[in-house]
Amino acid sequence: MTHHQMESRVADPGSPEDYAVLQRAVKERSGIDLSLYKPDQMRRRLWVIVQQAGSPSFTDYVMRIERDESAMSSLLDRMTINVSEMFRNAKQWEILQTEILQELCRQRHTVRVWSAGCANGAEVYSIAILLAKMAPIASHFILATDIDRVSLNQARQGLFSSDEIKGVAPPDLQRYFTPTGKNFLVNPWLVERITFQYHNLLSDPYLSGFNLIICRNVLIYFVETAKRLLYQRFSDALSAGGVLFLGGTEIIFRCEDVGLHQMYPGFYRREGHSLREI
Ligand SMILES: C[S@@+](CC[C@H](N)C(=O)[O-])C[C@H]1O[C@@H](n2cnc3c(N)ncnc32)[C@H](O)[C@@H]1O
Repeated sequence: MTHHQMESRVADPGSPEDYAVLQRAVKERSGIDLSLYKPDQMRRRLWVIVQQAGSPSFTDYVMRIERDESAMSSLLDRMTINVSEMFRNAKQWEILQTEILQELCRQRHTVRVWSAGCANGAEVYSIAILLAKMAPIASHFILATDIDRVSLNQARQGLFSSDEIKGVAPPDLQRYFTPTGKNFLVNPWLVERITFQYHNLLSDPYLSGFNLIICRNVLIYFVETAKRLLYQRFSDALSAGGVLFLGGTEIIFRCEDVGLHQMYPGFYRREGHSLREI
């Protein structure tokens, strides 16, 4: 399509039609299907980014992307919200520790954990700390994935602000972090226990055999059909008796249809043997 043809198609900058031009370009260039994200929310967020970049329309921004690849990465870097903090929603982490992890660690030689949509790593370091305390470190496989490469690099560095680590108990802070000025750096031996990888939950293949999958505050951005598909794929990626850990307000309706049972708010267990029977 020529620039003139593209421009003539934009009657209303920022409109769904204008947005569709960007959706197609993003899909072609990055494989990310924006139509699987809640449309109004995503369009509003991207509209702010596009305007801040000085583009009068999504279509204009696509032309900019054609001239300058970095325009695409800066859009992708900012398209999702990457905020996270350690032990966010303390009550849920308490349930995880006392009701779920203890059982998993007792029964398993190797505990396989996947933090899907790990953002800056706050969530995956939270689980790494709990596992380090509960079982010999060598017996863990911890995978952390995200679609945002900037966040993944941040996660690999393991540098957190005092705000992000406010949920960490003081003895753990002393044991697992080194203060650097105003920030806190995760100790390298803990970082090394985690495999960080780029992964698009909507289009890449999933590994399997996980005892615990943590995917919190990620699916909330997706349309219902995409959510449903992902619940099924998570269920398939869990070993029998494995647990899916979601945000406290994330509910899977008719969870039995995807082979899961609710244990506590935000915790779903894959059908098969109970944790005790593994
Ligand atoms: C709000 S953060 C959640 C961080 C963390 N899980 C928590 O609850 O604190 C949402 C994360 O989901 C990631 N994300 C969005 N779409 C994704 C996709 N299709 N595949 C993988 N990650 C995705 C974003 O890049 C972002 O880092």
